[in-house]
Amino acid sequence: MDISKLDQLIFHPWAVQSPRNVPAFVGGEGSFLVDHNGRRYLDFSSQLVFTNVGHQHPTVVSAIKEQADRLCTLAPTWANDVRGEAAKMIVDVAPAGLNHVMLTSGGTEAIEHATRMARVHTGRPKLLAAYRSYHGATTTSMHLTGDHRRWATDTGGAGVVHFFGPYLYRSAFDSSTPSEECERALAHLEQVIALEGPSTIAALVLESVIGGSGVIPPPPGYLEGVRELCTKHAIVYIADEVLVGFGRTGKWFGVDQARVSPDLLAFAKGVNSGYVPLGGVLVGDAIYDTFTQRPYPGGLTYAGHPLACAAAVGTLRAMHDEELVTSAARLGEDVLGPGLRALAEQHPSVGEVRGIGALWTLELVQDRMTREPLVPYAATGPSAAPMAALGATCLDRGLITFVFGNRINVAPPLNLNDAEAADGLAILDEVLSVADGYVT
Ligand SMILES: Cc1ncc(COP(=O)(O)O)c(C=O)c1O
Repeated sequence: MDISKLDQLIFHPWAVQSPRNVPAFVGGEGSFLVDHNGRRYLDFSSQLVFTNVGHQHPTVVSAIKEQADRLCTLAPTWANDVRGEAAKMIVDVAPAGLNHVMLTSGGTEAIEHATRMARVHTGRPKLLAAYRSYHGATTTSMHLTGDHRRWATDTGGAGVVHFFGPYLYRSAFDSSTPSEECERALAHLEQVIALEGPSTIAALVLESVIGGSGVIPPPPGYLEGVRELCTKHAIVYIADEVLVGFGRTGKWFGVDQARVSPDLLAFAKGVNSGYVPLGGVLVGDAIYDTFTQRPYPGGLTYAGHPLACAAAVGTLRAMHDEELVTSAARLGEDVLGPGLRALAEQHPSVGEVRGIGALWTLELVQDRMTREPLVPYAATGPSAAPMAALGATCLDRGLITFVFGNRINVAPPLNLNDAEAADGLAILDEVLSVADGYVT
């Protein structure tokens, strides 16, 4: 049967339900996906920023196969060798003081459990989160989310208070330098904490680099300042590293860029390159101690699934053997950063190039002086058409990118090679010529 007909049986996330015109992928290798006609596409998105080691990495595939031959599944009730090995490999690369790991099936569950741990540990009700953030699509995570994806399901009753994080290109504080933005964003956060009442706030949840909502690396000093404010007010600092954890920024974790240790760290995606769904929470010692006195109120049937843990062991082994964290740093410093900045010089539609490691964005504008976005904030349907057209042009040229809002995000596998990077940048050059047509 025709694959596009079968696809119509699927209820698609985040979408108006109607027949789609998207490629049907049936194979992959490294930085490429292959469609059912045998056409190869360069994957500059790592799908939803998760295939950190690329597609079909042989070490990961054989780790999953070996585990499938031995024991496909097991309840979290029991001890298990591959689950323990995955936990050790995760804790070994974690920031200081995070010595235990709760395993989940993905990112949003990690956020749900991290916030629950914080609420039980502190006995406080409220959560702080940044505008322009994404934390997942279940109830608490969705309420924490600081962009328009929250609007349709926001009941306003989840105890979440939003604050402005640093974003120099569209500063909420009228700043003109990174240090000014850092100082003012921290002063704003301090006021939010003071006026909400520190004794009511269980946790602050923060992406270490804002991912899908803008690709916004924090200015130097910001994460350190957040850590200090949380410590001062006994607020649990939860780092959301679902998108940037496990090498994406050129360090094992985004917080390592600032040498900061959060109290809890939520992860998923890169931990096993998404080969089998897995996420989790790295638990700091103080919170772990709380649950040596009382039971933790929660669990998941598939927590620590053996096939997912085998994929994590395979992924982390490949990352160590092939030094993929260093690769990501080099990719950002020597290849993608300079390459994208060179494109920006040629194309007036590029307002700003931002990024770090293997996570970049081209923020597109109608006018560089006014910085008016190429499409309005939260645009859908006809008003989003220019960006949809750019995404379609990328695909047409054989490049998969993650187009969101007025941004073309570039997040390839950490082991993208220089020739592949050059091919992708050449396609982006052509696509930006189309974008320039929307400049006023
Ligand atoms: C920063 C961040 N947190 C949480 C999530 C939710 O993860 P999942 O989709 O695995 O539930 C995502 C997903 O993109 C994310 O980018």
